[in-house]
Amino acid sequence: MAKRIDQIPPYLFAEIDKKKEEMRKRGMDIIDLGIGDPDLPTPKPIIERLKVAAENSKNHRYPSYEGMIEFRAAVAEWYERRFGVRLNPQTEVLSLIGSKEGIAHIPLAFVNPGDIVLVPSPGYPVYRVATLFAGGTPFFLPLRKENGFLPILRDIPGAVTKKAKLLFINYPNNPTSAIAERAFFEEVVAFAQRHQIIVCHDAAYSEVAFDGYRPLSFLEVKGAREVGIEFHSLSKTFNMTGWRIGFAAGHSGVLSGLGRVKTNIDSGLFQAIQEAGTEALNHFDTPLPEIIDTYERRRDVMVKGLGEIGLEVDRPKATFYLWIRVPRGYTSAQFATLLLEQGGIVATPGNGFGEEGEGYFRMALTVEEKRLKEAVERLRKIKF
Ligand SMILES: Cc1ncc(COP(=O)(O)O)c(C=O)c1O
Repeated sequence: MAKRIDQIPPYLFAEIDKKKEEMRKRGMDIIDLGIGDPDLPTPKPIIERLKVAAENSKNHRYPSYEGMIEFRAAVAEWYERRFGVRLNPQTEVLSLIGSKEGIAHIPLAFVNPGDIVLVPSPGYPVYRVATLFAGGTPFFLPLRKENGFLPILRDIPGAVTKKAKLLFINYPNNPTSAIAERAFFEEVVAFAQRHQIIVCHDAAYSEVAFDGYRPLSFLEVKGAREVGIEFHSLSKTFNMTGWRIGFAAGHSGVLSGLGRVKTNIDSGLFQAIQEAGTEALNHFDTPLPEIIDTYERRRDVMVKGLGEIGLEVDRPKATFYLWIRVPRGYTSAQFATLLLEQGGIVATPGNGFGEEGEGYFRMALTVEEKRLKEAVERLRKIKF
């Protein structure tokens, strides 16, 4: 193994999967609230479009690197409808094989060994690993409850900002389910301008929000397009995690750097899937009410149930995650193990998202309401 592999732990969910399988083999009925993978099907019109597109032999050849112009135009139109942001589909949109792919590759374009990347902790694990793969050094920005799980940019030491090349942010946030308002994004833009840092805003959950709340795009804020890009995904918006389709939008120079990495690594995104993605963006207004209503109901069931048991959790305004305090006397890992061994419930220990996640665990609301109710009943019986 190369040294770069040695320095990273096995992918968080791969480890949890192993343990889960062990329990399953022992005959345990597992309620998996671990990974955030929607259980609802992709809407019919998207599937129908794929069927037709898959028959078209034009789509069997290598796709273009930057993505079909029809798909990128659909992205630009969606951005304008949804956020009031105008994008040039030729230069300000890039298709991705899922947003994870773009996030994982972007440091390769901009980070030299010795450069720093500002990474939220807790945070989506790919920011940190992608930084390490590029030879960069992650500097962790703690996300704490008392700050609404927003990083405090003014606390970053000058010696760090001087060497920092990229800043990852992610709202609505995984794993804390926190949201960001315009004032925070404005602060980020000013910070990035001052220190010449590229902002990568991960908006994978922009279309999973409740109670009428509609998350902002980072690109809505003045100056944002001059300092960074935004990653989006069709995965959670349209229940398409398995399809692998996402995109990045914003600063054309940053996108072209990412595009140069990609042309040397992948050969684009199967055109039939891009056609289906085009259908998704053109056909639907997002967020999709059926999806939101389902998660909203699940959220209410679970927040109520956990509250009754005495577990401390906020009612999230967005994402399908609950970020829950571990009861006194346990570490995150100990408590997650207790839940799995005594309740057959898979939850993700907070420290898997970074040191600052210690003291929490995450539950994903990606199983049926009936099963969530069952999870609450099982939790009630566990002594902690
Ligand atoms: C915060 C965040 N960003 C990005 C992704 C990647 O999504 P995809 O690669 O399916 O577009 C995920 C997936 O769980 C996520 O939680």
